[in-house]
Amino acid sequence: MLKIGLIMGSTRPIRKADIVAKWVHDIARRRSDAEFELVDIKDFKLPLLDEPLSAVFGQYTHQHTKTWSAKIASFDAYVFVTPEYNHSTSGALKNAIDFLHSEWHNKAAGFVGYGGAAAGARAIENLRLVLGELQVADVRAHVGLSLFDDFESFTTFKPRPQQEKAVESMLDQVIAWGSALKPLREKIA
Ligand SMILES: Cc1cc2nc3c(=O)[nH]c(=O)nc-3n(C[C@H](O)[C@H](O)[C@H](O)COP(=O)(O)O)c2cc1C
Repeated sequence: MLKIGLIMGSTRPIRKADIVAKWVHDIARRRSDAEFELVDIKDFKLPLLDEPLSAVFGQYTHQHTKTWSAKIASFDAYVFVTPEYNHSTSGALKNAIDFLHSEWHNKAAGFVGYGGAAAGARAIENLRLVLGELQVADVRAHVGLSLFDDFESFTTFKPRPQQEKAVESMLDQVIAWGSALKPLREKIA
């Protein structure tokens, strides 16, 4: 069974990432064609990148890197749940991505973004650029949640009905591509 990590892209004390990621998880776990796990970057207590060598070499010196590496390596695909910070993804998520290298390779990824007028679209586009370098196959369908239209008074999460369908479409593509890449992952492992 394909294993998909739902990665929460915000580590702020009061964040929307947890409620949004839990909503995605609730929709995802109704499916029987993949297994899903919520991954909270915060739990891994990653400092700003502190490994002496680039992750390209895979020689990690810190336990926090080894623990993060094992978790990310265990998945076949990912869904990144990302806020938009200054027209980009969060520094915390970019830092967590930069910690690793081959663990990301030949996996599929989809995105759930959230933010103001652009509904997280710029954060998602930014992530697509970063993940291309890590040989992650990013799917076309994405979910864009607007603080204006999917949150009441910019605070209480009330996604419009069509957003659930958008999650399903994105997951369909992530599962299809995650499965299609499996022979390649097995060949390289
Ligand atoms: C540092 C920072 C920068 C932000 N920049 C943008 C932005 O460029 N575009 C946007 O639509 N929203 C922006 N926002 C609004 C966030 O998308 C919104 O606060 C969201 O809830 C943040 O996610 P989080 O609560 O899970 O951390 C920004 C918020 C923060 C904290």
